[in-house]
Amino acid sequence: MANIITIYFSMKGQTIGPGMKLTHLDKGNTAAAAEFIQKAVGGDLFEIEADRAYSEDHMVLIKEAKQELENGTRVPAKFYPDLSRYDTVYLGYPNWWNTMPMVLFTFLEHYDWTGKRTFAR
Ligand SMILES: Cc1cc2nc3c(=O)[nH]c(=O)nc-3n(C[C@H](O)[C@H](O)[C@H](O)COP(=O)(O)O)c2cc1C
Repeated sequence: MANIITIYFSMKGQTIGPGMKLTHLDKGNTAAAAEFIQKAVGGDLFEIEADRAYSEDHMVLIKEAKQELENGTRVPAKFYPDLSRYDTVYLGYPNWWNTMPMVLFTFLEHYDWTGKRTFAR
């Protein structure tokens, strides 16, 4: 189905795994979930990339993200795909400080979502 797209943001590299231990992921959790969904529903897959560098140190990344949230920073995305030909959008993102990563706000505000079916988690 060409009119479906699964869009996600995800971080690979250092993360906190089982038992609250620091671990390394070659592929982020949301990326794995998004690929699973795209295989199940068909259509296209797009990864949102933040146009800024985050620390590779997970504990520093957590502080960077908190500062962005507190400042309401609109982190730009590297690319904004043309979504006009899609009518169904699955959107995946990690829980960052009990909300979305700030680049998700920028990304969502970039488009007019009128008439689109959206599934976000
Ligand atoms: C900056 C940051 C903030 C986070 N805040 C929360 C949180 O508030 N609650 C929570 O349950 N998990 C939180 N997490 C954990 C992530 O939601 C979790 O590791 C998620 O699976 C990461 O997805 P990803 O591998 O696709 O990036 C946070 C992780 C990061 C990096």
